[in-house]
Amino acid sequence: MDTLIAPSVLAADFANLQSEIELINDSTADLIHVDIMDGVFVPNISFGFPVVDAIKKHAQKPLDVHLMIVNPDQYLKAFKAAGAETITVHLEACQHLHRTVQAIHELDCKAGVAINPHTNVELLRDIIRELDTVIIMSVNPGFGGQEFIEHTYEKVRNLKAIITASGSSAKIEIDGGVNMENAYKLIDAGADILVAGSFVFNAEDPKATIAKLKEL
Ligand code: DX5
Ligand code: ZN
Repeated sequence: MDTLIAPSVLAADFANLQSEIELINDSTADLIHVDIMDGVFVPNISFGFPVVDAIKKHAQKPLDVHLMIVNPDQYLKAFKAAGAETITVHLEACQHLHRTVQAIHELDCKAGVAINPHTNVELLRDIIRELDTVIIMSVNPGFGGQEFIEHTYEKVRNLKAIITASGSSAKIEIDGGVNMENAYKLIDAGADILVAGSFVFNAEDPKATIAKLKEL
C-alpha cells in the first residue's frame, strides 16, 4: 500500500493559516493532521474549535484530529461537528477505551488510538480489531520539533505482528520527529501513515518535501 502523508498544522504559520492549508491542498499530502493539546494531558496548549473550524473551511483533504486531552469523550461530538474525519484519542487518557472507540464510530468517524513512547503495543491487542488507526508516538507528545525516538521501529514491527495475527485492518501512523532519514525505515518496519510537522513546514519548499516523503 501507498504510504499516506499527513502534514501537521502545528508547525504551520498560524498568522497565514489559509495559505498554509492551501499549500497542503495543492500538495500530494493525503491528510491534514490537527493536534489538540489541553495543557493537562500534555504540558502545552495548542488551539481549539475556532481554529479547527477555520482549518476545515479551507481544507480539501480529510482532517486527522489527534486529541492530546484528558476526558476526550465529552468533546467527540464537537470535533465531529468541526469536521474531523478521524478522531484519535490517547490510550493513557481513557478509562474506558472501548467505549470511547464505539462513541467515535457512532459519530461516523474513523477511530484511532495513540500511545505514548512508554506504552507497550501489547495493550492494544484486545481492541485492535475495532480500530482504524493506531498512532505510535515517536516523541513525547506536547511539542513539535523534537528528536525521533529510535525504539519506535521495534514498536512498529511488534504492532504490525499484532495487526496481522488478529486480521485487523488498522493502519499504523507515526507521529513525531519524522524526517527523510527515518521515514523509509519506518515504512520498512510497517508504517502506513507518516505525520510530519517541522520537517515539512520548516523546509524551504514544503510541497516538494511532502512529495519526497510520498515518493519513498
Ligand atoms: C506532537 C504532535 C505532533 C507534532 C509533530 O505532540 O502530536 O503531531 O506536530 O511535529 P514534528 O513532526 O515537528 O515532530
Ligand atoms: Zn499529532
